[in-house]
Amino acid sequence: MKILGIESSCDETAASIVEDGKRLLSNVVNSQIDIHAKYGGVVPEVAARSHVEVVNSVIEKALKDAELDWGDIDAIGVTYAPGLSGSLLIGSIAAKTIAVLKNKPLYKIHHIKAHVFANFITEQKGQILSKMSEKSPEYPILALVVSGGHTQLMIFNSSTDFEIIGQTQDDAVGEAFDKVAKIIGLPYPGGPSISEAAKKGDENKYPLPISRLNNPYDFSFSGLKTAVLRSVQKEVGVDFTFPSYKLAEKLTDQQRADFAASFQKTAVKTLVDKTAKAFHNNKIKSVVVAGGVAANQKLRQEIEKNLPIDVLYPPIPLCTDNAAMVAALTYYESLNRDSDNPLNLEIKSNLELKKDI
Ligand code: KG4
Ligand code: ZN
Repeated sequence: MKILGIESSCDETAASIVEDGKRLLSNVVNSQIDIHAKYGGVVPEVAARSHVEVVNSVIEKALKDAELDWGDIDAIGVTYAPGLSGSLLIGSIAAKTIAVLKNKPLYKIHHIKAHVFANFITEQKGQILSKMSEKSPEYPILALVVSGGHTQLMIFNSSTDFEIIGQTQDDAVGEAFDKVAKIIGLPYPGGPSISEAAKKGDENKYPLPISRLNNPYDFSFSGLKTAVLRSVQKEVGVDFTFPSYKLAEKLTDQQRADFAASFQKTAVKTLVDKTAKAFHNNKIKSVVVAGGVAANQKLRQEIEKNLPIDVLYPPIPLCTDNAAMVAALTYYESLNRDSDNPLNLEIKSNLELKKDI
């Protein structure tokens, strides 16, 4: 089955065709990072406008790159939740319109679940990506989902039977990377710029706390972000009344790198310790990491060191937002449920992942 995936939940307009949930035939991503970087974060209205401008050409390119036409497409999957309303709306309107005009079954797809299913893409036509994962996960799967909006530990017994065993109680880990980058004066998005700066830093320079929570699999990152803020204030000799947007200019490049490394070490340790605990306390065959923060090399090194089995990740372009993950999950959902009525499909910007979605 050849499935077209469409993703527009945040600041990437993406379309991709994946065959049988595992073979990548095309992967088009139009990133708006450059547009939002000057504001230090995603501006929802600007994001929605940019999606409108490119969505048609992104979809057309996905078909062209795969050397297919509409007759070859068996179904369409589109992200309908969660995300920015204006952004979600553009992808879903495009998908609904095509589904009706071309008479294709349409599946609404939850973005967070899709991130996990990027791990099933292990083959590709030609050389779309420079590196592919070699191994598919096997159920039961322990999934650590780490993105700009979510931090969750999940166990999947199948594509439809899953349980969230822990999640963040406040900020997502990607959000913490982005906020800490802002505090110490590194560019948006914070994840890649913190991991780059951290290479030259001393990760033991600034000790930072790890939050303790009742559920050992839950996370909390807002305390860590505040601890970085207090530590920066102390280092540059000001108190909490000093405007935080002026703090960064008081830091030297070395201090910036040391803060980046110390923060990254603590955030990664939090993720790895909880994942290792979940692995040891449950019957698990595969561990997968998914979402934008799965691109972090330090996380990959540490999780490999601390878990007794090979941990799987998608190739980097399939860690951050993409439509291949949407197309892959659509395939597995299509094996278990009917398609959705395009005329009734509504976006849900805040919808948490639950059993029946
Ligand atoms: O999954 P994603 O592309 O979008 C959401 O669904 O949120 O994740 C984006 C997040 C951002 O917070 C970004 O800073 C983070 O992923 N990120 C990273 C890295 N690359 C992207 N975080 C840590 N290290 C990275 N190398
Ligand atoms: Zn995402």
